[in-house]
Order: sequence, then structure tokens, then C-alpha cells
Amino acid sequence: MADGFVPPPYPYDRLDRLAKLCADHEGGIVDLSIGTPCDPPPPAVITALASSNTERGYPPSIGTVGLRSAIRRWIDRRFGIDVGLDQLAACIGTKEFVATTPQYLKLRDPSRDTVLYPAVAYPTYEMGAILAGCRPVAVPMAADGGIDLSAIDPADAARALMLWVNSPSNPTGALSDLDAAAAWGRSHGVPVFSDECYVEFTWDGPPRTILETGLDGVVAVHSLSKRSNLAGLRVGFYAGDAELVTYLREVRKHVGMLVPGPAQAAGEAALADDDHVRVQRDRYLHRLERMAHVLGTWSGLPIALPAGGFYLWFDASDGWAFAERLATEGGALVSPGDFYGGGGANNVRVAVVQPDHLLDQVALRLGVH
Ligand SMILES: Cc1ncc(COP(=O)(O)O)c(C=O)c1O
Repeated sequence: MADGFVPPPYPYDRLDRLAKLCADHEGGIVDLSIGTPCDPPPPAVITALASSNTERGYPPSIGTVGLRSAIRRWIDRRFGIDVGLDQLAACIGTKEFVATTPQYLKLRDPSRDTVLYPAVAYPTYEMGAILAGCRPVAVPMAADGGIDLSAIDPADAARALMLWVNSPSNPTGALSDLDAAAAWGRSHGVPVFSDECYVEFTWDGPPRTILETGLDGVVAVHSLSKRSNLAGLRVGFYAGDAELVTYLREVRKHVGMLVPGPAQAAGEAALADDDHVRVQRDRYLHRLERMAHVLGTWSGLPIALPAGGFYLWFDASDGWAFAERLATEGGALVSPGDFYGGGGANNVRVAVVQPDHLLDQVALRLGVH
């Protein structure tokens, strides 16, 4: 057999054994491992999905004018920034964008070969680098759960195609200093890609985007998966630097990266509405507080609320041991922290993506009220 790339086991597939322990409980598993929404999207989205009449023809890869205008209006409403329709575009959810962008950047600048990303992070930043044949270089974390820009080796910076930041962070929940990240990127000539897909769930202070620092040299990446409970729809978008966005728009047309027309229409409807996001924020905050109390009382560990996002992230000494104990005693499946990098191995990530009655069931099993 050729000595080439072998995909590593998909992180969540490694949870099969613990999932079986959970399934043994009466009432079954309560899955708090994957950050997949369980709450309904707004009804107008479903109506738009079924009635756009866009099934027959090919949809525009960059996004319809309707979708791009809705994105533009949302960025303006949320952050007070006007981004032209030619400086933003659609993607098929953001995972594919994260996984494929390094290879396109490498083709554009073959003299560089390095992708910088937070050491404790969503695993796809590293995977995108690997799939591009690039060097993935993890940037150490600062004590507050953001990245430590000062720890980047100048030799790596000189080879870098891009720096990923993620604020609010999955899994740590920390908010990054986006001003510092943008300034670092501009001073080193490295584009900064800011994954902001949890921005609507910012708890400490106002939601922030890297676009507030100006559009040059930065690209903000957003998703409707979390904002509007539409992970099944596959709609995301990116916005920022004119040259980078133009380049990515063109190359992605050639690849055939197309958000289906009905999904574009539905995304447009979702972005036009903010009320459902307010409702969802309340749900997540309530569940975060509830599970911090339940798991903290049961384990005796200090469990703080995150600054953003819908994950609890805490030091449990040994992430796998904690996950196994919780599966055995509470029938709840959570993610051991090593899914997000070796530096997370002591930790556990709990996604509060199940309805309250299932969280109550976990509390009951653990004997916490
Ligand atoms: C940090 C981060 N970025 C991107 C994604 C991808 O989301 P989607 O592809 O649904 O837009 C996720 C999903 O969990 C995530 O946690």
C-alpha cells in the first residue's frame, strides 16, 4: 500500500464505547458531545426553503444577491460595519471553508507553507493544513484561553499563509483580542482568518468581529448553523479583505462550491430575523447555568461559565476518565478535551445542546437537584 495520507479516526467516532455506556441507562443517552443544535429554526426559514422555486437552475457560488444583501444588512445591524456585496460570499457551512482554504492560499503563494492556529481548538484548522500538504503550527494558548501571539516563532510567521483565530472559542469559550490578532497579521503580512461562528452567543460584553479593525488583511467567517439552528442547511459566509475575498470567490466557483438555491433562500430569511436568536441565547444561557451547577455539584469541580459559546470547558484532571464516569453514572456523553489538541487532555467539553427535560434527567441520575 502507498505510504500516503490516512485519515485519522474522526474524533466523535472514538466515543462509541462511552455512548454504549450511556445507552444502558433507562431513558437512553443524553448526547452533550457534538455541538449540533436541537432547537427549531424560525418557521419563515422552512417556508422559504420550500417555496423559493430555485431547484431547477444552478445557484451562484458566491451567493445570490438576496443572500449577500441579507448578510450585508446583518453585519451592519450587528456590528455597524458596511461591507460591500463584492467583499463577501457564501460557503457551504464553514467547515468546508476551514478545511479547504489553506490549499487555495498555498496555490496563490507557493513560497509559503504554514497554517497557524490555536493549540486548543476546533480540529479542522489543523486538518485543513494537512489536506493542503502544509505545515500545521499550533500557537500556544494564553492563560485566559485565547491565543498567545507573542509565542509565534518569527520563522513560522515568515512562512505563514494564514493565522486562524476563533472568538468565542470552541472549546474554551474565551474571547480573543481581535485587535491584537489583526495588528499582528498586518505587521507580519499574514492574513488573519477569524472564525466567529459563535458570535451571537457572546456573554461577556458585546459581540465582536475582526472587521471592526478594518477589512484589509482580515477575513471574518460566519455560519447560520449555530445562530439559527440550521446546521443541516449548510449555509455560511465569509467577508473582508477585497483581494482575498475576490480570489476565494473565483477559485471556489471553479471547484463548484455551491450552496443549494433553496438553502440560500432559507439563509436569507434566517438572517433577516433577530428575534429567534434572542430566544436561543436565553435557552443556551439557562442550560449553561443549569449544567455548570449539576456537574459542579456532582463532581466537586469548579465549573465556570464561558465568556461566549455554548460549551462548558473545565479541568477535570483527566478528560477521558471524567467522560467515562459521567457516562456510567449520568448517561451523558461529553467530549474529552484531547479532541481539541493535546493541551486540552485534562479538560472536558460539555455542549448544552439538549432540551431542558433531558438535562433534568441527567441531574436526576446524578442525584443533583
Ligand atoms: C469553531 C467552529 N468553526 C466552524 C464550525 C463549522 O460549522 P458549520 O460547518 O456548520 O458552519 C464549527 C462547528 O462546530 C465550529 O465549532
